Parts: sequence; C-alpha cells; structure tokens
Amino acid sequence: MNIVLGVTGSISAYKAVDIMRIFQKNNHQVSVIMTRAAQELIPAYTFETFAPGNVFTEMFERRQDPVLHVSICDRNDLLLIAPATANIIGKMANGIADDLLSSTYLAFYKKVVIAPAMNTHMLEHPAVLENIARLKARGVEVIEPVEGSLACKYEGKGKLPAPEDIYNYVVNLKPTHV
Ligand SMILES: Cc1cc2nc3c(=O)[nH]c(=O)nc-3n(C[C@H](O)[C@H](O)[C@H](O)COP(=O)(O)O)c2cc1C
Repeated sequence: MNIVLGVTGSISAYKAVDIMRIFQKNNHQVSVIMTRAAQELIPAYTFETFAPGNVFTEMFERRQDPVLHVSICDRNDLLLIAPATANIIGKMANGIADDLLSSTYLAFYKKVVIAPAMNTHMLEHPAVLENIARLKARGVEVIEPVEGSLACKYEGKGKLPAPEDIYNYVVNLKPTHV
C-alpha cells in the first residue's frame, strides 16, 4: 500500500516517525506531509532521513511536481493523519485548505484515517466533538485517542495510541475501505 502520512503540530508528532517506520518495515511506501507547527516540534530532516525525497512541507515550492496536493492523491491509496490536531480536524470539517496537508485532504478521494491527539479539554470541546462527528459522517475513519498522562500534565483521554496500534488499525480496515 502507498500511504501519505500527515503529521500535525501535536506534542506527539515525534511518534509519527515510528508510525512511518512500522509501515516501511512492512513494505508499505510512505510519503510524509508536515504542517509548519509539526516542524516546530520535530524536524522534517528526521522523516527525510528515512524517506528521502518523500517529505513535503510547503504548498508553494519549486519542484518537479508543482501540483503535488493533487498528484499525491493519484499515487497513494490512503491518507493517514497521525497525530491530528484540533486545528487540522477543524479545517477538514470545514473545507479549509490553507496549507499543503489540508489541501491534500480535500483533493484526496480515497480512504482517510485520522488519529486525534490533544489535551482532554480540547478533545471534549463541543467544537472539536462536532468536527469529529462531521468527519465520521463523511466516512473518515477516526482512531480514538487513549487515556493516559498527557504532556500538559493532565491525566485523561487525548493521548495518541501506540504506533503499533495505529498500524494495526489501518491495515485491518476492510479492503473496500482501503
Ligand atoms: C508544545 C505544544 C504542544 C501542542 N500539542 C498539541 C496537541 O497535542 N494537540 C493539538 O491539537 N494541538 C497542540 N498544540 C497546538 C497546535 O500546535 C496549534 O493548534 C497549531 O496551530 C496546529 O497547527 P497544525 O494543525 O497546522 O499542525 C500544541 C502546541 C504546543 C506549543
């Protein structure tokens, strides 16, 4: 399977490296799209080391393939956004396309999976709950965050599941979904 891994600005963004590695070790091809906030938390270079030439961060960049947000959809089977911030979820639910990842989501006509990760109160905010419900209703697969101790020192729901669990969730999706 060819997957696009979207990485957003959650403190758990570093775990996306392990998510990428598990897919790669199981012979899946991974391209990575990082938001600017994600790059504040983990350097693109780390992903680039394991996926040379397949890490993208900018919408407007001089490259061979200028309309990447469209062509990347044709070349891939699934878009996995892990971790998914409250912000990207809000943009997805409202059709906002103001960067490479959110534009790719709107252009992506195949399976989309998100793994939300955030502070418990953010997760429980009606705006976030409504946005997640809207995405589910449109067929987006949502990997539920788990309970645990969060980086913000809270104890509760909002933690990104273990990379292995995210991998297993994705590869066990029904074939019609992938
Ligand atoms: C240290 C730190 C950790 C953050 N962790 C999260 C998080 O886990 N989940 C979340 O939704 N936002 C988190 N944020 C806020 C996002 O980075 C912020 O909303 C940003 O605009 C998200 O942009 P993006 O969705 O384009 O990546 C965090 C911010 C900081 C400074």
